[in-house]
Amino acid sequence: MSESSNDSPIPRHIAIIMDGNGRWARKRMLPRFVGHKKGVNALKRVITRCGELGVASLTLFAFSTENWKRPQEEVNKLMGLFLEALQNEVSKLHENGVRLRVIGDRSAFSEAIQAHIARAEALTADNRRLNLNVAANYGGRADIVQAVKSWQKAHPEESIEALTPEVLTPFLALSDQCDPDLLIRTGGEQRVSNFMIWQMAYTEYYFTPTLWPDFDEVQVDLAVASYQQRERRFGQTSEQVSSC
Ligand code: IPE
Ligand code: IPE
Ligand code: MG
Repeated sequence: MSESSNDSPIPRHIAIIMDGNGRWARKRMLPRFVGHKKGVNALKRVITRCGELGVASLTLFAFSTENWKRPQEEVNKLMGLFLEALQNEVSKLHENGVRLRVIGDRSAFSEAIQAHIARAEALTADNRRLNLNVAANYGGRADIVQAVKSWQKAHPEESIEALTPEVLTPFLALSDQCDPDLLIRTGGEQRVSNFMIWQMAYTEYYFTPTLWPDFDEVQVDLAVASYQQRERRFGQTSEQVSSC
């Protein structure tokens, strides 16, 4: 159940760029990895809060196609944390009615991670309380390229002239869920870093200096309150949308 009236709609889909783990650790003279570990706790708080608010979909940017360029040791630690989370957190998510999906090219991950992803997706496939999408080895540009290739494979008889945004959309990640209404980026940077660039064409953006390990329920509510102040016009005039 949504906690808000129709005048203050809860975003149906929230996307989050979870940034600032490294700086959180550096401020405390700790290795970057400690920030990533703390970040997992923030993640649990945010999932719980989104479930309480009645958000239908939550998409979290966990690892970008560009993050492979980080030092090998950090990449290894991040992979370790990913596997640990899959091993330890999935049953609880399942109990809470969460449907887990991983978007991005998973073939680059270890066999163990791929097996746990497949198991988690199958286990939670019928859950309806919250769609939790984890973007891992995900890049928005790669998603668009794979969509074009998939469209061409599915319609070998079509000329490229038949390609339109409408026909391409079903081939993009998360086409069965509505586009994000709200994007939150923690850590102070005001950029999108190749996250869901197609799906966020009309998303409302919320940037906060709070570092991801410090992000909590109150911060989710602040972002939602900011979203509720916005007038979404989708190209129309203010008069048009307010008369709907
Ligand atoms: C986000 O935190 C986590 C990942 C990108 C995997 P960062 O590791 O980017 O933290 P900062 O931006 O260096 O502080
Ligand atoms: C974006 O954060 C990717 C994730 C949060 C997974 P980055 O820290 O990689 O982004 P840039 O490099 O600052 O743009
Ligand atoms: Mg960063």
